[in-house]
Amino acid sequence: MKKIVVGMAVMLGLCACTQRPSGMLDVNKALDYCAEQTLRTLTELKTDSGIDYTMMPRNIMADENHWNCRKATKEEWCAGFWPGVLWYDYEYTQDKHILEEAEKFTHSLEFLAKTPAYDHDLGFLIFCSYGNGYRLTQTPAYKQVILDTADSLATLFNPIVGTMLSWPREVGPRNWPHNTIMDNMINLEMLFWASKNGGNPYLYDIAVSHADKTMKCQFRPDYTSYHVAVYDTITGNLIKGVTHQGYADSTMWARGQAWAIYGYTVVYRETKDTKYLDFAQKVTDVYLNRLPEDKVPYWDFDDPSIPNAPRDASAAAVVASALLELSTYLPNGKGKQYKDAAIEMLTSMSSNAYQSGKSKPSFLLHSTGHWPNHSEIDASIIYADYYYIEALLRLKRLQEGKNVLG
Ligand code: GLY
Repeated sequence: MKKIVVGMAVMLGLCACTQRPSGMLDVNKALDYCAEQTLRTLTELKTDSGIDYTMMPRNIMADENHWNCRKATKEEWCAGFWPGVLWYDYEYTQDKHILEEAEKFTHSLEFLAKTPAYDHDLGFLIFCSYGNGYRLTQTPAYKQVILDTADSLATLFNPIVGTMLSWPREVGPRNWPHNTIMDNMINLEMLFWASKNGGNPYLYDIAVSHADKTMKCQFRPDYTSYHVAVYDTITGNLIKGVTHQGYADSTMWARGQAWAIYGYTVVYRETKDTKYLDFAQKVTDVYLNRLPEDKVPYWDFDDPSIPNAPRDASAAAVVASALLELSTYLPNGKGKQYKDAAIEMLTSMSSNAYQSGKSKPSFLLHSTGHWPNHSEIDASIIYADYYYIEALLRLKRLQEGKNVLG
């Protein structure tokens, strides 16, 4: 079954993506493209009775042309990305219609601030939506939603282990007494933000503790990451490092490593402790050194079927965005290397090989969601689009001599 899925992915165009990116990246042209695709999506979401603002675009499979939407529930970890795309698009276009749509979709997530934490994804859900909304509009109610959600996320922190529990639902069924997944690094940004914006200062300590323990326990000696760290709740010690979405426990799952690169860049930004800057470079270099020519990784760097394995454009988008920020914290040589690498990634993603173009309303093709589950393979996935437009905006700001973060 796996072989058939991968074979189909290759036939559907993955073999077109093996070239080194060429040509100059025109950031405004790429952002104009995103704006056009965003309008197409909004048109697609409209029915005779209007738009259902609780239904969020999630994916378009390789053989489909329209978004599959999912209800914004506490279980749907991707529900904040579409509002986030709208906020970024509004930031670029300044189109009031897009602002109104961003507000309405964002509002559908407010319930999360008043719901006990289902799992760690609250940072993805609320900081991509309300976080960007507050950054752009300074709406006081948005701030309160972020602060309340940060408190809710903090309830997952286990002081004996020193990290947040990612998946309460997996504690019993998998016998993972305290599990922390690499993706959880992204949720730290909301805790740092809340601690600086009127929230409990303890949120900062939790974020730092989580980053430290993860650094110590969730990486191999070569700085590649385990997707999941399983900890003993009595001793706080690591029991084992395993995978959930990667090829095997011992392999480098591309998006997991991408979350690590992005996460430690944020932790350095927020703490200014150079041990995180150093670590961010270590986890980046092992990723960059093993990329294929076009700078978009295979979904897992160690899938034995490479070069016939699917790519993961979402990992490329996450890393491009992170490296544009990381480059600003480093001296010329290393900083330039990372910025150039990010531009090469964005150039590849902005080519016909990776853009959906007229065929679908998403921005990008060729992401891999959950290969072991046979789901979202060689698909358009909303978080790839979110980090792609974020990276383009970061590059635009750098080109205009502005702060990379806006
Ligand atoms: N957070 C789940 C994933 O990266 O697929």
